[in-house]
Amino acid sequence: MITLALSKGRIFEETLPLLKAAGIQVLDDPEKTRKLILTTNQPEVRVVLVRATDVPTYVQYGGADLGITGKDTLIEHGMEWGGAATIGGLYEPLDLQIAKCRISVAVREGFDYAAAVRQGGRLTVATKYVAIAREFFATKGVHVDLIKLYGSMELAPLTGLADAIVDLVSTGNTLKANHLVEVEHIMDISSRLVVNQAALKLKQAPIRRIIDAFSGALAAQ
Ligand code: PRP
Repeated sequence: MITLALSKGRIFEETLPLLKAAGIQVLDDPEKTRKLILTTNQPEVRVVLVRATDVPTYVQYGGADLGITGKDTLIEHGMEWGGAATIGGLYEPLDLQIAKCRISVAVREGFDYAAAVRQGGRLTVATKYVAIAREFFATKGVHVDLIKLYGSMELAPLTGLADAIVDLVSTGNTLKANHLVEVEHIMDISSRLVVNQAALKLKQAPIRRIIDAFSGALAAQ
């Protein structure tokens, strides 16, 4: 059995064409079923639905053989910033170029971020992406107090909880609707395929087939 960990929503939707290229069709609709293990047209392949942030954990510890999740999630899980990387049994062979967005620093309209940075005082930054924010501001030489949040980051500068946020930006509509402006582009994000290294050895042929089909589909785009 090959188990692929996916999260519902954009990643699931954008993974379907890649699965199709590998001859895999998911038979359940995750938006309609309460099932967490979805069957496919291939009896030897199943999809498990997990939270995006749990995908690296499932794959690393063998609850799934493969998984798809954002680079942001992988970095927060401990992966390197650049290029293909491996940590503790988790191998990232492919950038799937899906669910693309960016991680940025944003502040309230009218907040003089450049001056705050220039003056060298401490900035309070609220974010779900603590590792990414810490590394970014350390490299920049800016002292920050980080506040970990789990969602609705946009509220932090509006309520006085923080001077700035580090968050995902896709269309920019959420920032705009909340009168926030992007002041730094930290990195581009896309979803990656991750593979459990032990599974790759034990189930080499079927896993390689999926990796190769995904990479063939990407090359054909
Ligand atoms: C992300 C992010 C922003 C929004 C940006 O949230 O945290 O709130 O998308 O998208 P936009 O630039 O297209 O407006 P998501 O919907 O992933 O939910 P989350 O709050 O659980 O992270």
